[in-house]
Amino acid sequence: MTALKALSKTALTVLYPRQKCTLVLRGNQIRNLMSRQLVYNEFGDPLQVVKYRECEVPALGKQEVLVRMLAAPVNPADINTIQGKYPVKVNLPSIPGNEGVGFVEQVGSEVQDLQRGNKVILATSLQGTWRNLAVFPRTSLTVVPDALGNVEAATLTVNPCTAFRMLSDFVCLKKDDVVIQNGGNSACGQNVIQICKAWGIKTVNVVRDRPEISELKKYLTNLGATYVFTEEEMRSAQIFKGEVKKPMLGLNCVGGKSGAQLLRYMNHSSTMVTYGGMSREPVIVPTSAFIFKNISCHGFWMTEWNKHAPAEAKEQMKDSLIKLMLTKQLKAPTHKLVKLKDFEEALKNALAPQGFAGCKYILDFTD
Ligand SMILES: NC(=O)c1ccc[n+]([C@@H]2O[C@H](COP(=O)([O-])OP(=O)(O)OC[C@H]3O[C@@H](n4cnc5c(N)ncnc54)[C@H](OP(=O)(O)O)[C@@H]3O)[C@@H](O)[C@H]2O)c1
Repeated sequence: MTALKALSKTALTVLYPRQKCTLVLRGNQIRNLMSRQLVYNEFGDPLQVVKYRECEVPALGKQEVLVRMLAAPVNPADINTIQGKYPVKVNLPSIPGNEGVGFVEQVGSEVQDLQRGNKVILATSLQGTWRNLAVFPRTSLTVVPDALGNVEAATLTVNPCTAFRMLSDFVCLKKDDVVIQNGGNSACGQNVIQICKAWGIKTVNVVRDRPEISELKKYLTNLGATYVFTEEEMRSAQIFKGEVKKPMLGLNCVGGKSGAQLLRYMNHSSTMVTYGGMSREPVIVPTSAFIFKNISCHGFWMTEWNKHAPAEAKEQMKDSLIKLMLTKQLKAPTHKLVKLKDFEEALKNALAPQGFAGCKYILDFTD
């Protein structure tokens, strides 16, 4: 291997039918590329099972692309996947991370429509984005504009898309209609607020009380929230007595009593969509909500939608979201960037069993 490293690039290409991922040094000498990455060999507590490693970037297949990652978020679903509690199968050892953004470094010999320097995001899940250098199938990548912010791009495919679909696919919302949601400060909730604002829809946002509640309310209001209430304040809120219409759509991020509370304020024949279970409590639906209010309850899972949706629908959603982002109508969620070496901080906060993490943790691979 040492001898190989000293060979010229041409010589190596002859030796390897697959394209070798190499770094060309001065004097035409080459060195194999190393990827800095996180990996787990068993399911369990992320703080115990996720390890840092450096390993050689594999050879590039004809339809593959070498990507230098810029950023990748730590989402609740990533944590649940590492714990072995998420309903998707991964083979071990596995590199975590479902979404992220990077620059194309090198393309396989049959990749015609991408070139070095393109900014790309992962369009399919389970590709393992928590690494600075990665070889991905061409089909897993989508080009995004260079002007799109790294954090917006890195977090585009999960929460903005989930918010967009839930606001589009269940109820035909018109200007001045009202959407109520819990977890209003979640990354997904922040996207709901901003998309609604852009579409002229009002939002009633329920959050948990905390010492810095006034800062949180101010932040969400600046994003475009029409109302922000703590769970306690919501119980005595009078806004549905004439100030605003009753919501036709409720978005349930939390479950348990919090989800049941949303139903109390929702309109007759409205729809509640459950997409998260942050309280780890089952969804509670009082019998009266079904019988006397004819409320429909649905679930939504972005992964499932992606499996069946036509390419044009995906393209249209992506374009709409990017347009909102580029015009600053859709900002990235509150976040903290952490370097790969500090990944434990990101895991610890993303894991916080009682919540109150306060922001989305994003792995930052830039030097
Ligand atoms: N179905 C789908 O396709 C889909 C797509 C995207 C996300 N999701 C789900 O949506 C949820 C939010 O995801 P995200 O990325 O937006 O998460 P996030 O930014 O980390 O936000 C988490 C939210 O959950 C709340 N929370 C945390 N622990 C809680 C607890 N014990 N009881 C009540 N609330 C709690 C937090 O509120 P505090 O600030 O009060 O802690 C915060 O609002 C997750 O369950 C995720 O898996 C589902």
